Amino acid sequence: MTRRYRPALLWFALPPAAGLTAALAYVASGRLEAAVARGPGAPDVLVGLVLLGALLIPPVYGYREVSGLARTAERSADAAQRQAERAAKERLEKLLMEKAQMDVILQHMADGILLVDEHRRIVLVNPAAERMLGVSQHEALGRDHLEITHHFDLDERLARVLATGQPESLEIRRARPQGQILEARLALAMSGGERSVLVMLRDITRARQLEQMRTEFVSNVTHELRTPLTSIQGFAETLLEGALDEPETARHFVEIMQRESRHLAALIDELLDLSRVESGKFRMRRQPTAPQKLIAETVSRLAQKAERAGIQLMTEVPESLPLVSADPDRLIQVLRNLVENAIKYTPAGGRVTLSARHEGGRVLIAVSDTGVGIPRADLGRIFERFYRVDKARTRSTGGTGLGLAIAKHIVEAHGGTIAVESEVGKGSTFTVALPAITGVE
Ligand SMILES: Nc1ncnc2c1ncn2[C@@H]1O[C@H](COP(=O)(O)OP(=O)(O)OP(=O)(O)O)[C@@H](O)[C@H]1O
Ligand SMILES: [Mg+2]
Repeated sequence: MTRRYRPALLWFALPPAAGLTAALAYVASGRLEAAVARGPGAPDVLVGLVLLGALLIPPVYGYREVSGLARTAERSADAAQRQAERAAKERLEKLLMEKAQMDVILQHMADGILLVDEHRRIVLVNPAAERMLGVSQHEALGRDHLEITHHFDLDERLARVLATGQPESLEIRRARPQGQILEARLALAMSGGERSVLVMLRDITRARQLEQMRTEFVSNVTHELRTPLTSIQGFAETLLEGALDEPETARHFVEIMQRESRHLAALIDELLDLSRVESGKFRMRRQPTAPQKLIAETVSRLAQKAERAGIQLMTEVPESLPLVSADPDRLIQVLRNLVENAIKYTPAGGRVTLSARHEGGRVLIAVSDTGVGIPRADLGRIFERFYRVDKARTRSTGGTGLGLAIAKHIVEAHGGTIAVESEVGKGSTFTVALPAITGVE
């Protein structure tokens, strides 16, 4: 029967301060059992005290533990909040950093970026797109894209991307400023439940021009090689068919064949030259050179030719000029082409002048003539390969249209520039500017 006290006392002790309370309860129960065994008598003071202790310990410890727990919970709630705040701050900083990076990329990327919302309003435009479309951000933002792009095809594609979610691409040809060709790639962009279309613009004008130039080049080369060849073949056949028996005619035909084959050889040389300068494979042997020497050498090589054409070849060169770093052979080749052109396109009785001057750290060598001049519309193109102003006329003068293209490459390989000014009927001036070697007069 005494066994029943143990569980009763242990019940008080078990929860929070389990160890101490259980020990006290055990002692108390032991004493109580002893007292009960002794039978009724004077109350056991010790049992009373122990019982009181056992009763008090749970609440006291309970309170202490609960308040301890509360403090711990409070502390960990604080820590969790601080951690959450720190994480939020880090996330914000990361977002801001990413946005700043994004801004830098958008600002500096070569491709144009437009973001157009569901109502076709422009919500983002980067500087490249501003340039390509010829508008400022201020003008474009919030406006219907059609007011800016004026492109109905683009509008149709935008609608399609919004409807299907599939990317699209198209080519946009702009009349202004100068027949630009833009490649536009469209993709659906979702942000915060909003649907918009990202339009990426790339200026492919230059690439298209190069493609066209390459195609033209191949057809030009073929044509230029075929023309003299056809002529040589034709005369050879005529000779074999009987013209050989007429010595005078035969001689005339053979002379034409000789001229055509020389032209063919010159064309092949020029083509080889061009491919070498264009691919940067030709070797330049640059050395400090006096511009006067380049001019004197050119004049001495072409004086006879000028005289035969009835052209007065003159020079206007100051005694003192800075040196230039040049491959003399190459630069003489340039000047020679310029003077040959001047002689070719100046009627007899005209004048061709070679002059030089020192200006702004550069030496300018000019070849001017009193010839036929070049129409304004052709001026921008004469440095292109095979470009000739009057194709019919230059054929008779034996030109291929490669001379100026080669000259331009050589001058640019010297860090210089070549420019032309001309007026039809009055004459032309080609100016080669080369960096002067400083400190040498
Ligand atoms: N001084 C000039 N006056 C007028 N037209 C010129 C002059 N120089 C060049 N041109 C024009 O520019 C074109 C290109 O000149 P370029 O020297 O490249 O070729 P080309 O003289 O025809 O042939 P080549 O390859 O034999 O030099 C010429 O065909 C001609 O129409
Ligand atoms: Mg020429």
